[in-house]
Amino acid sequence: MKEYAVITGASAGIGLEFAREFAKRGVNIVVVARSEERLKAIAAELSTTFGIESIGLALDLAESGERKRLAEYCTENELDVSYLVNSAGYGSNGAFDILDLANELQMTELNCIAVQELSRYFIEMFLRKRKGTVINLASTAAFQPVPYMATYAATKAFILSFSLALRNELRGTGVEVMALCPGPVDTSFFRNAGMAKPKTFLRVHPPSLVIRKAFYGIEHHKPFVVVGGLNTFLYYLGNITPVTWRTWIAASMFGRKRRKTS
Ligand SMILES: NC(=O)c1ccc[n+]([C@@H]2O[C@H](COP(=O)([O-])OP(=O)(O)OC[C@H]3O[C@@H](n4cnc5c(N)ncnc54)[C@H](OP(=O)(O)O)[C@@H]3O)[C@@H](O)[C@H]2O)c1
Repeated sequence: MKEYAVITGASAGIGLEFAREFAKRGVNIVVVARSEERLKAIAAELSTTFGIESIGLALDLAESGERKRLAEYCTENELDVSYLVNSAGYGSNGAFDILDLANELQMTELNCIAVQELSRYFIEMFLRKRKGTVINLASTAAFQPVPYMATYAATKAFILSFSLALRNELRGTGVEVMALCPGPVDTSFFRNAGMAKPKTFLRVHPPSLVIRKAFYGIEHHKPFVVVGGLNTFLYYLGNITPVTWRTWIAASMFGRKRRKTS
């Protein structure tokens, strides 16, 4: 029986690139996002090109019931899932007090709670067969607070902390968790977050590089992977720099003039 990879956020960007890479490696895929037509087209294309089984599931993972349905679908259909990639996620840009609160809360639900809940369901499955890997999309935003992307950076700090802790708990079980920490990546992420393009001196990497580093990390059993030489250097520099300084620098990248509210 061929193994499956379940990839969330696979209708675009990094998730789509993960789906393509797993398919290329002969791993069956379950691609998940909300855009049904896009998922159908992706599943059909990857299955024709790479001769794998490919299933598209249109689910809103910000809804707890739909997260449960994903796990139940895999169990009921006896899919031999060995990889879970939690890539569905989004950000926003602006001062927290003037951003849409419902959208900020929904972001926490998708970026954190969905990852927490899906990790639980799939880790239980993986433990039964003593094999499996969870790959969680964190970010270099996990390494310091980011003013004007406050909720987003906090969700990514959660992902990194949660992933590293789980990985440690799972030592010796055959089940691994890896956090992936890219800097800016060329996807629709920034446009969706209300930014024309990232205002940053950092290089914007192609999704293909993120995937290459991710598979290196999986194959070498890395607890987390920072994508890009400069991002890696800044990560180490960050470890010896006060967090308040790093917060100021981050603010200069993502800050906007405050809109007067009264
Ligand atoms: N791009 C970057 O610079 C960057 C850097 C570091 C980390 N990341 C992280 O990488 C992950 C992927 O981002 P990306 O750059 O690939 O962004 P993207 O191109 O905007 O893709 C986001 C994906 O998430 C899906 N999604 C959004 N809301 C969803 C929901 N409620 N339920 C199910 N799926 C949902 C979207 O599909 P539908 O709209 O069809 O649902 C899409 O497939 C995110 O977690 C992001 O935080 C991105």
